[in-house]
Amino acid sequence: MPALDSVRLNPTDSIVILTGAGISQESGLDTFRCAGGIWSKVDLEDVATPQGFARDPDLVHRFYNDRRRGLLDPAIQPNAAHAALAALERGWRGNLLLVTQNIDDLHERAGSTAPLHMHGELLKAVCLRCGTVSDCRDDLSVHDLCLSCGRKGGMRPDVVWFGEMPHHMDRIQAALEDCDLFLSIGTSGHVYPAAGFVAEARAGGAHTVELNLEPSEGVSRFDAAIHGPATALVPAFVAELLAL
Ligand code: APR
Repeated sequence: MPALDSVRLNPTDSIVILTGAGISQESGLDTFRCAGGIWSKVDLEDVATPQGFARDPDLVHRFYNDRRRGLLDPAIQPNAAHAALAALERGWRGNLLLVTQNIDDLHERAGSTAPLHMHGELLKAVCLRCGTVSDCRDDLSVHDLCLSCGRKGGMRPDVVWFGEMPHHMDRIQAALEDCDLFLSIGTSGHVYPAAGFVAEARAGGAHTVELNLEPSEGVSRFDAAIHGPATALVPAFVAELLAL
């Protein structure tokens, strides 16, 4: 695997992995910015900002209800790339942190035990009145009551919208400073702070690799890049790591 040829990595080294919508594309979930992607069909200002939710909560609930039903379709299953990352977690002897921008649960269903969902989770809801986060596998609406505080009208998807602070940033930043390998999979490198992780990892001395269908906006910031479908690249890359 060319991305590792000239790199001294040890089996006890620390790895941080960042995934984006591209790792779930071959499972049948849409990406955001590829041709025909989600943001070509709906205006993110309307459905992925607090202002959009305040303006028209029903529209936002319909958008996420459609995506939640899609994710729960039995035809949507984790793919070989998700499975390879779960195998890496089981076989890697060093520290391994999986950070995902995705709000799907395909990493968990493939066997990854603790992915950090920096943009939240589609299968969770949060009450704006009391802050309680709960599982959510059904449609949400403005008429729903919070099962914790009993109040109505405050339930929203537990998804981080544009302009809101992503989750787990302290933990992510600490891991980036300390890691020996930063691996970015299936992301366009368009949205910060995730798009800046590669620079933070490099500043800490990590070797940085992009695995993506095509060169991302941030490809020049990586030490190495391999382009192709995640279901081909990720299992091969994981096999190289586990053979160290
Ligand atoms: N294998 C590997 N990479 C792929 C595949 C595939 N099968 N299919 C698509 N890709 C790549 C595309 O080339 C693209 O670079 O995945 C990337 C997906 O980019 P985006 O659609 O921008 O998704 P992402 O980078 O995850 O978006 C980041 O933006 O809208 C917000 O919150 C949303 O988390 C999302 C964030």
